[in-house]
Amino acid sequence: MSRNQLSANVLLTSTGPKHKVPTYLHRPFVCFGHRGACGYAPENTLRAFDLAIQQGVDGIELDVQQVDDELLVFHDKTLNRTTNGVGWITDFPVSVLRTLDAGDGERIPLLSEVLTLVNQRVCVNIEIKDHQSAEAVASLVTDCVQQHHWPYEALLISSFDFDQLRRVHNANPAIPLGVLCENNLDEALVFAEEHAAFSMHPSLTCVNESFVEQAHGTGFKVYVFTVNELADVARMIAWGVDGVFSDVPDRVLAHLPFMPS
Ligand code: G3P
Ligand code: MG
Repeated sequence: MSRNQLSANVLLTSTGPKHKVPTYLHRPFVCFGHRGACGYAPENTLRAFDLAIQQGVDGIELDVQQVDDELLVFHDKTLNRTTNGVGWITDFPVSVLRTLDAGDGERIPLLSEVLTLVNQRVCVNIEIKDHQSAEAVASLVTDCVQQHHWPYEALLISSFDFDQLRRVHNANPAIPLGVLCENNLDEALVFAEEHAAFSMHPSLTCVNESFVEQAHGTGFKVYVFTVNELADVARMIAWGVDGVFSDVPDRVLAHLPFMPS
């Protein structure tokens, strides 16, 4: 990135400090805080998202599941690994789930609370984890844009479940889609083309240079998960990948030569 491009990202005023203008995913190599900065704070909590933003991420990634009529930010099907609860998340009412300790006294957040915290400062990648949230997520995203003036580029909906992505697209085709893939790269590319997706999100274990070329040839960005080691970051940059999801965004960002300090 040239010095001019860098300075275009910064609004200088004579009276105050520098204010970073959000440019979302426009930098040559971007970093999403995976479940926030979950290498340092309890995953998928407001504290982890706040920390990721402080560390300078371009976006945060979070996992969403619908319980009752609420969209909860939570990764697993069970409460056991990340909270002081035990059992299936769907076996409890939201009122009980919201009393649990999700780590260091943090609560399981609602998606709407995370969006309020982020307040358009960085891109929010909402990964649909269950098989029923598509319409509710599409509705919330559409509301963000229409009622709260978020730009569509600040929101990116992804899932391994193509049916969920199809339903988001049918609800509002303007919502940017990211197609998660692991061992189904060809099928994922076909789906992405058919649904005018924005980006491909392959796992680090399955991505290869030819997939990156193929995805770029069809006009998709490529964001790889989950990348925590600098050697992998360097390999992704060499392959022309557009960005990564990382548990330790500060480590990735410090490695990027074109990042402002
Ligand atoms: O969205 C990237 C990544 O989060 C997908 O896998 O299991 O960490 O949600 P997982
Ligand atoms: Mg995820």
